[in-house]
This record gives sequence, structure tokens and C-alpha cells, in this order.
Amino acid sequence: MLPLHLDRACSSCDRWRVAVQIDSSLEGIDWLQAKADLAADDFDNGRSAGALRRSFEQSQHVAFARDGERVVGMARLLSDGVCNAYMVDVWTASAYRRRGIAVAMIRHLLEQVPGQHVGLQTNNAQDLYASLGFKPQPEFWSIVVGSWLDNAANRDA
Ligand SMILES: CC(C)(COP(=O)(O)OP(=O)(O)OC[C@H]1O[C@@H](n2cnc3c(N)ncnc32)[C@H](O)[C@@H]1OP(=O)(O)O)[C@@H](O)C(=O)NCCC(=O)NCCS
Repeated sequence: MLPLHLDRACSSCDRWRVAVQIDSSLEGIDWLQAKADLAADDFDNGRSAGALRRSFEQSQHVAFARDGERVVGMARLLSDGVCNAYMVDVWTASAYRRRGIAVAMIRHLLEQVPGQHVGLQTNNAQDLYASLGFKPQPEFWSIVVGSWLDNAANRDA
């Protein structure tokens, strides 16, 4: 699939102009940098850079937003390929927010799962998902099995 080219400018400020590409390629991603960028945005959930990479490699569908070689957004979708999917790790680098990057990544993921029910959990991005047609569906229940990230996939870098 050809990358989606996204070029939205702030109406009052040309220095905010960015040309961001959305794609699904795991090629050329600097996962150490990605982890550092997530941490700088207070969105690092404790995975090592290697575990972060594995999370994306092992997801059925992924979306990345890139400004040149730099990853400035990411999102992924777990899917059974039949009826159910779950969206996680939706993030846009703080310097690139409110320009439609998350919407473009999410649309890209949703296009991969026609006919499927897509769920997600959010604490503070309700407006984003509502703008895409998501509806709240109480109740979401969850459990961490044992201790968070205490498993073989998280024991090496
Ligand atoms: C939530 C997040 C992914 C949004 O990324 P983004 O690229 O800025 O989102 P978009 O520009 O595509 O936003 C599209 C719309 O969503 C809504 N929206 C996005 N961020 C919002 C915010 N902080 N407050 C209110 N509405 C918001 C707006 O309606 C926005 O449209 P508008 O800019 O025309 O008003 C980003 O703020 C982020 O990475 N936050 C930290 C991580 C996080 O909370 N991820 C979500 C986990 S569920």
C-alpha cells in the first residue's frame, strides 16, 4: 500500500508545517529512540526498547507516522482476523499533535479490519475516538496476570 501523505499546516503559523507519512512498515525504526520519545511524553509503560519492538512485530496491524526517518506517531491493532480487534499504543509525539496524525493512523488500522468489532480503552482521548465514530460501551474490565511485564518477552533488552 502506498503511504498516505499528510500535510496539514497550522493556519496561523508556517513553522508548524509538516509532511508526515503514514505506513505499516517496521523497517528502519529506531526503537531506542521511540522508547525515549514515548518516555519524554510520559507515555512509556515500562517495556524495554526490544519489548516495544516485539509488541509491534507481533501485532496483526501497525501504523507509523514518520517525519522523514523519525517516527512521530504509532498505533497497533490486535485482531483475530475474523470478528474482534483491540487497538493499543496510540501515540503522537507532543510536538506533532492536533494535526490529524492520530486520526490518519487509526483510519489506516481500521481499513485493515472490515466487518470487525474494534475495542479500546482510553482515559482522556474520548473526543478523538468519538470523532471517528467510536461509541462508549460500558463496562470495560481488566486484570494483569501476575505482575505487569513479568514474562519472558520482557526479560531481555
Ligand atoms: C491522543 C493523541 C494520540 C491524539 O493525537 P493527535 O495526533 O494529536 O490527534 P489528532 O490531531 O488526529 O486529533 C484529531 C481530533 O481528536 C480530538 N483530540 C485529539 N487530541 C485531543 C485532546 N488532547 N483534547 C481534546 N480533543 C483532542 C480533536 O477532536 C481532534 O481534532 P481537532 O484537532 O480538529 O480538534 C495524542 O494526544 C497522544 O499521543 N496523547 C498521549 C498518548 C495517549 O493518551 N494516547 C491515547 C491512548 S487511548
